[in-house]
Amino acid sequence: MIKILRRPELDAADALAAVREHYGLDGSLTPLPGERDLNFRLDATDGRRYVVKASSPDEVDEILHIEVDLTRHLARLTKGFAPDVVPTSSGDWVVKYADAAGRENRIRVVEYLEGGLLADTRPRSRALLEDLGRRVGELDSALGAYPDHPPARIDFDWALGRSGMVMERCFDLFQGEELALIRSVHAAWLEREPDFLGLGSQVIHGDINDHNVLVSAPGDGTRRITGIIDLGDAHSAPRVFDLGIAIAYAILGTPDPLMAAAAVARGFHRRTPLSTDEIDVIWALTRARLGASVSIARWRQHESGTVDPYLTVSERPAWDMIRRLHEIPVRFAEGVIRDACGLPASPRTPGLVRWLEKQKIEAVMDRPESDDELTVLDLSLGSPDLTGRDTDDTEDFTRRVFRRMEDEGAKLGIGRYLEPRAFYLTDIFRGRPGDPRERRTIHLGIDLFDQAGAEVRAPLAGRVKSVHDNGTGLDYGPTVILEHDGPEGPFWTLYGHLERASVEHLTEGAEVEAGQTIARIGPWPENGDWPPHLHFQILTDLLGYEGQFPGVALPRERAVWASFCPDPNLVLRLPGTTTFVEPDDLAERRRAAFGENLSLSYDEPLHIVRGVGTFLYDPLGRAWLDCVNNVAHVGHEHPHVVRAGQRQMGVLNTNTRYLHENVIVYAERLAAVFPDALAVCFFVTSGSEANELALRMARAHTGGSGVVALEGGYHGHTQGLIDVSHYKHASPAGAGAPDWVRTAPMPDEYRGLYGRDVMDRADRYADHVRTAFAELTASGRKPAAFIAEGILSCGGQIEPPAGYFETAYRHARAAGAVCIADEVQIGFGRVGSHMWGFEIEGVVPDIVTLGKPIGNGHPIGAVVTTREIAASFANGMEFFSTFGGNPVSAAIGLAVLDIVEEDRLQEHAAVVGGTLKANLASLAMRHECIGDVRGRGLFLGIEFVRDRLRKTPAPDIARYVANRAKDLGVLLSTDGPDHNVIKIKPPMTFTQKDGERLASTLDQVLGEDAVRSGVGG
Ligand SMILES: Cc1ncc(COP(=O)(O)O)c(C=O)c1O
Repeated sequence: MIKILRRPELDAADALAAVREHYGLDGSLTPLPGERDLNFRLDATDGRRYVVKASSPDEVDEILHIEVDLTRHLARLTKGFAPDVVPTSSGDWVVKYADAAGRENRIRVVEYLEGGLLADTRPRSRALLEDLGRRVGELDSALGAYPDHPPARIDFDWALGRSGMVMERCFDLFQGEELALIRSVHAAWLEREPDFLGLGSQVIHGDINDHNVLVSAPGDGTRRITGIIDLGDAHSAPRVFDLGIAIAYAILGTPDPLMAAAAVARGFHRRTPLSTDEIDVIWALTRARLGASVSIARWRQHESGTVDPYLTVSERPAWDMIRRLHEIPVRFAEGVIRDACGLPASPRTPGLVRWLEKQKIEAVMDRPESDDELTVLDLSLGSPDLTGRDTDDTEDFTRRVFRRMEDEGAKLGIGRYLEPRAFYLTDIFRGRPGDPRERRTIHLGIDLFDQAGAEVRAPLAGRVKSVHDNGTGLDYGPTVILEHDGPEGPFWTLYGHLERASVEHLTEGAEVEAGQTIARIGPWPENGDWPPHLHFQILTDLLGYEGQFPGVALPRERAVWASFCPDPNLVLRLPGTTTFVEPDDLAERRRAAFGENLSLSYDEPLHIVRGVGTFLYDPLGRAWLDCVNNVAHVGHEHPHVVRAGQRQMGVLNTNTRYLHENVIVYAERLAAVFPDALAVCFFVTSGSEANELALRMARAHTGGSGVVALEGGYHGHTQGLIDVSHYKHASPAGAGAPDWVRTAPMPDEYRGLYGRDVMDRADRYADHVRTAFAELTASGRKPAAFIAEGILSCGGQIEPPAGYFETAYRHARAAGAVCIADEVQIGFGRVGSHMWGFEIEGVVPDIVTLGKPIGNGHPIGAVVTTREIAASFANGMEFFSTFGGNPVSAAIGLAVLDIVEEDRLQEHAAVVGGTLKANLASLAMRHECIGDVRGRGLFLGIEFVRDRLRKTPAPDIARYVANRAKDLGVLLSTDGPDHNVIKIKPPMTFTQKDGERLASTLDQVLGEDAVRSGVGG
């Protein structure tokens, strides 16, 4: 029978009366949660806060007094981390108070510690969880110094040591899946129970649940644990029980509970080192706490026939967690915790490694006569030999692998251990959820590439553990596992991608001699649909797998898997570097090699080595959905573009002083997508060059030099363009505008001079262009150009009010200037409704400049203008750009145009962008910090504000959102004069699914504490 302590029946008025009488305190009481004690927060008239606790009438006095004593002990040792008891006016710690009904209550007052509850903290970051572990370690050290042990609470159902019994007694109350889960948790408990005897005993807190842990407010640096409260369940037990309990609640609601558990354990161990015996029971303790929690809840419901809300609050998440933890092999989970505490994840591995180093071992496959005929293949993420889409076409993949071996004169190709690989990026290798960036990309074996039919031999004597066909869909295909006798028990070797017929004679349990042929390399597709090779791996624990075993691992688990699957070269003994090593000094080298003002994105910069479609990948194969790269217009590394460049590169790349058809066709194709008047092309290599050239043309044509540009505008990095770019010259480090430049206000309908409520705002904004030109003229500067983007990018994705450009262009032309449309960011269909930004308003500029997306990453810039302006520019001085318009660039530019047209990317941007904008608008209804959602097609912006009425910019929130979205696998960036706008301008191949992911990631991040509290991170 589980005994339940009654709660006291004291009402707030009586509690307040008691506090007035005995503590001389007054104020207002607010109920606080509590299972056994009745708790109130007292907001006292002296401005301070306290907790008033009334104890259960069933609680014995002795325990109450020990709890008070313990509280005082802890408060003294932890310096404000645990709340102290407040004495009564007469110096007592507990008062007896008879309420109106004559019931005697025992009341105490303790300090109120400020801080949010861990239970309400979003997100529970790795750093915060580590801090929790550290603080639990400190608390238990302080508790360990408490001299008197409280009496054992014989019938105390929440004591972790009793959870085996608690679960067992409730078996009858569960059925089906729930019963199976509880039985499994119980069995794991029983298995570890004998180990508890050696763990010692001290006073422990006993209930470090997430409602008893306090967390600092967001925005105050890294969030920390600021207090642990409520000693009501303190009892004698091993200290590691506190850690097990803390983990059980700390991991609730975390995306990867296993890694979260490891973080708490790591924090504890770093502060208060744990013994191996302690480390090895943590996982069983954590699961048991969850099992006991749902068992107690079920028991109470059964007993009372009612549902206690305090208990059911934690029941559902506990069940979800029990289910999730059940899916993780126990030894693996224990290995993750061991690894976090600095132990080898697989206890047997160090001994096995030493033993294998001394063994005589037979060759697994025929070795070529010379080591020169062996080659290590680069199958890593950044390998130029891979396409990132390799598994789509096994024949082509095979041809490439074997051609590479042939080129190197190799008979045997080696695929490395721990290599993160570009061909595991698909959802088939998704793995355990918890980090949306990760797939199982890390290779745990060594591959030996040879022709199908090549023989495979046993390196050591042993027996056949399993022969299993693991299917053809990028799995192992036919697979053999051999069992061998190691120094501390068995270990296993795995052989994957075999020929089906070659393993049919093998029977499980059959003895195998060292050097005996066991199989042959299989052809595709029967080998799992891979280029022919052997996957060889060492296993030190089968972890419950039968007939197969993971051959690839998630990046965050690679150290743990590397312990369970030590280096296969211990057996293969191949020369050369057969383990992948990731360069880790790039940031430092970059700092030394480059100027400091070449910035990196994000607080923690990304190292990117591959792009495919809308995704970018780091060396470990972690994927980010790219929502900002308007350069990779048709998708990163689009095969058609890549091929076009590669093919032309091998034939000719020279300047435009010779006739070459590519560049002429390209100029013709480009001119064809512009209004008729814009008929002449000039090619350069960047947006800056294009804008410089455009200004030269404008000057040549008008004979003037004055330029009007818009506030917040950016047009390039040359001195001339910094002079016209308000975004740069008006920045704190800028020198201001020179006398030949005037800026007109940004036509910003949200926070600019004229808002959406001003009916003639377009005309009013355009009138500033008129006055700017008038000022230029008055100062003796003859106008040459008005330069602007159709939607202002660096200005913060600002779409001017309808009619603005029509009037502004009229004013500019009336002043004698020509109009330059900078389409470097927004061109090529991005705005969805039109091919070019200027077309939104139906105006025709005199000069258009192009860059970024035009070459999908290849450096191309272009100026397209009228025949008249081109003629004025041909004033006798030659125009020449060495690289502009070279045949390779032209081939690439043509390929980009092909895809934009064939895949109808403009229409696609309109549809996908339309849905995305609607989804963002609905986020704005839920999240107060969104001030404005704007833009068109796939060129959108979200402006963050502190409050909607005043529109106070919230750059911290924008920055927090970009950094957090990055952690969740989505790339965004911030811009705008106040740095409070999130820019969205992804590759144009962005899908509806990508858009949904972006919106849901934003929704998640905007729900986090740092955003809700308005402080950012
Ligand atoms: C609107 C606009 N124009 C011109 C440029 C300059 O292009 P590039 O960096 O290729 O010289 C940029 C670059 O960010 C831009 O955003």
